[in-house]
Amino acid sequence: MDRRQFIALGSVAGLSTLASRTPLAATLSNSARLLDLPIPFERAPLRMPPTVSADALTLRAAARRVEIAPGVPVEAWSPGEGPVGPTIRVRTGDTARITLENALSEPTILHWHGLRVPERADGHPRLVIPTGGAYQYDFPVIDRAGTYWYHAHPHHRTGAQVYRGMAGVLVIGDAAEDALGLPSGAYELPLLIQDRRLPADGTFTYEPAMHEQMEGFFGDTAFANGIRLPSQSVETTTYRVRVVNGTASRILRLALSNGQPFRLIGNDGGLLPAPVTLTHLDMATGERADLLIDFGKVAVGSRVMLQSAAFASPARMGSMSMGMGRGMGMGGMGAGGAPQGAAMDLVEFTVDRAVTPVAWKPRALPRLATLDPNTAKRTRTFQFNSAMMQHHINGRAFDMERIDETVRFGDTEVWTFVNESPFPHPVHMHEVQFHVVERVGGRGRIMPWERGLKDTVLVHPGERVSVAATFDRYRGRFLMHCHNMVHEDMGMMLNYEIV
Ligand code: C2O
Ligand code: CU
Ligand code: CU
Repeated sequence: MDRRQFIALGSVAGLSTLASRTPLAATLSNSARLLDLPIPFERAPLRMPPTVSADALTLRAAARRVEIAPGVPVEAWSPGEGPVGPTIRVRTGDTARITLENALSEPTILHWHGLRVPERADGHPRLVIPTGGAYQYDFPVIDRAGTYWYHAHPHHRTGAQVYRGMAGVLVIGDAAEDALGLPSGAYELPLLIQDRRLPADGTFTYEPAMHEQMEGFFGDTAFANGIRLPSQSVETTTYRVRVVNGTASRILRLALSNGQPFRLIGNDGGLLPAPVTLTHLDMATGERADLLIDFGKVAVGSRVMLQSAAFASPARMGSMSMGMGRGMGMGGMGAGGAPQGAAMDLVEFTVDRAVTPVAWKPRALPRLATLDPNTAKRTRTFQFNSAMMQHHINGRAFDMERIDETVRFGDTEVWTFVNESPFPHPVHMHEVQFHVVERVGGRGRIMPWERGLKDTVLVHPGERVSVAATFDRYRGRFLMHCHNMVHEDMGMMLNYEIV
């Protein structure tokens, strides 16, 4: 059988499998593209990365041969033995002592996204270590219980390294959360979601083409914890699912394929003031969603897909400079992944076993002090500009050594992010957890999933989003940037210094 026949047969078999197993699955064109590659289409079981503590932890960043599906090896770059880094579990009050060893072929550094840490532990790109080098992190864990993550942060190479696997989930626990009795153990599933193109030649290739340098880099297929389109067996009870958007550029519209609602109990900075029942929520790169999914009413034997539902891309392609929209002058293989807003299956849950459901009742969540934006000492405004193959903040590209903003230690400030560019920008601040206080234009309101504490906020074209934060933990140089990794790597980032 030659390759053409193999692909043709593979497609037919694959499509019928797909259709019968996942009625709401990817579109035909997505499926056809998937099946262009002779990779078995069976869903691999979801594997949880090993759980480690941060006490004398060594993370060795290296190229590793891993399996992204049974029998499909690929070279990943990972800070652990698996396709992505281990899940680090700490408690508020712990001291993290972590050694990063760099066995990659290029410089790297790790950043603890969402954690307030001293300057020298923050993974600023100027702290990169060369191949063969090591870096020692030593910091107290002062943040609330919640879902955080860590990832590579070398300038110009964050996108490429994270895409290959240089990321992991970091979970903080504390006594206030313990008291709630949330689902744990086998009923707690951390999911680091990424989208990738199926690897050609056994490696993940991340090379944004011209139009991708504007909108972002998109994959065809979702990976969870480094496993392609995995499947997880569940019982008829409630699970705590902690989702991290670790994609390069994709906004995920989380939803369940059977249309059932879920409860959102936390986001970037820990538990919300109260759970919110939703049928979907949007999360951009860098954001987290802490969900309770109740399979108690799902018939045993059925399958429920956690998916990113289709939505109209917020990018305003019409106003893109030089008419380099998708599909123009591209064509052929590798012309781009599934576009922003395309429906994408993420993780399949197979409901395999009936149990007496432990329905988690929403008890009061830990109180969260609200920050009054009227106490702000200062307001700053930042324009996010994307035009002519450049991504800038206030007209400037990132300069490692330039301090763009100086903030007084202890002050509360309001920062306003203005997006008059054609693309969405998820704006992230290091070193603070902020409150989203206002959105003007575009969606015109604070979304239910933006309550509580956040470190990343999605700013759509035409929106002005204001956040309030108090800079009262450490002095030093920290970053604010767009977390679309293509934009960030091209310089949509600045230094601010707390003095
Ligand atoms: Cu998720 Cu500057 O980081
Ligand atoms: Cu960060
Ligand atoms: Cu951006």
